[in-house]
Amino acid sequence: MIDAWIERWQVGRIGWHEPGGNASLKRYWDQTGCRVLVPLCGKSADLLWLESQGNSVTGVELSELAVTAFFDENELEYSSSSPGRFDAVDRNITMVCGDYFDFVEESGFDALYDRGSLVALPADVRPDYAAHTRSLLTQDACLFVITVDYDQTRADGPPFSLSADEILGYWPDLERRDRYDDLANCPPKFIDAGLTEFYEVVWQSGITTVRR
Ligand SMILES: C[S@@+](CC[C@H](N)C(=O)[O-])C[C@H]1O[C@@H](n2cnc3c(N)ncnc32)[C@H](O)[C@@H]1O
Repeated sequence: MIDAWIERWQVGRIGWHEPGGNASLKRYWDQTGCRVLVPLCGKSADLLWLESQGNSVTGVELSELAVTAFFDENELEYSSSSPGRFDAVDRNITMVCGDYFDFVEESGFDALYDRGSLVALPADVRPDYAAHTRSLLTQDACLFVITVDYDQTRADGPPFSLSADEILGYWPDLERRDRYDDLANCPPKFIDAGLTEFYEVVWQSGITTVRR
């Protein structure tokens, strides 16, 4: 699985990447002053947006190509105090390059942003991902998770479809914030497989207000 991701970055098969960032994040995220953990972050523009909201952000990503692309494309300088660690100069953004499951150097993050992360992992790996992520977060961390929902019997992931039961099994504090048709943006392999429904689902903890 790890080799497959590295190869995707090498050949540029990164159809999940949203150059303008994720619209639901901008719509619903309401935290500032947090230390935000972004597992399996790719070169997501969401790192920049989260930081612009007054948070300090740490992303973890396997591919060094992705990490350097993030800094280059956003014209950010970085310093590196240890192998695999990239600290943006003058910005509260750190990227750690390596296998997320080996990332133990820091913990106590008080917010999680997961888009394209849990859904990137096969079913047998997801419980370990959730347990490892929990070990890096404070008990009452704010959670923001975006999943996808489609007929998994018709097509295989990634991204993998997750049931509400599975998600709430990992994160009982989550509530479903939104669910919308995202067929227009789903991977072409799903259209080829004949899927006619594909939803993106937004989960958030501590929902106090509903903004429409
Ligand atoms: C579907 S992409 C999503 C990237 C990002 N979250 C986004 O929304 O653009 C999944 C990313 O996870 C990375 N990845 C996969 N397995 C990983 C692992 N074990 N440790 C760290 N990164 C991993 C891949 O290289 C890829 O960039």
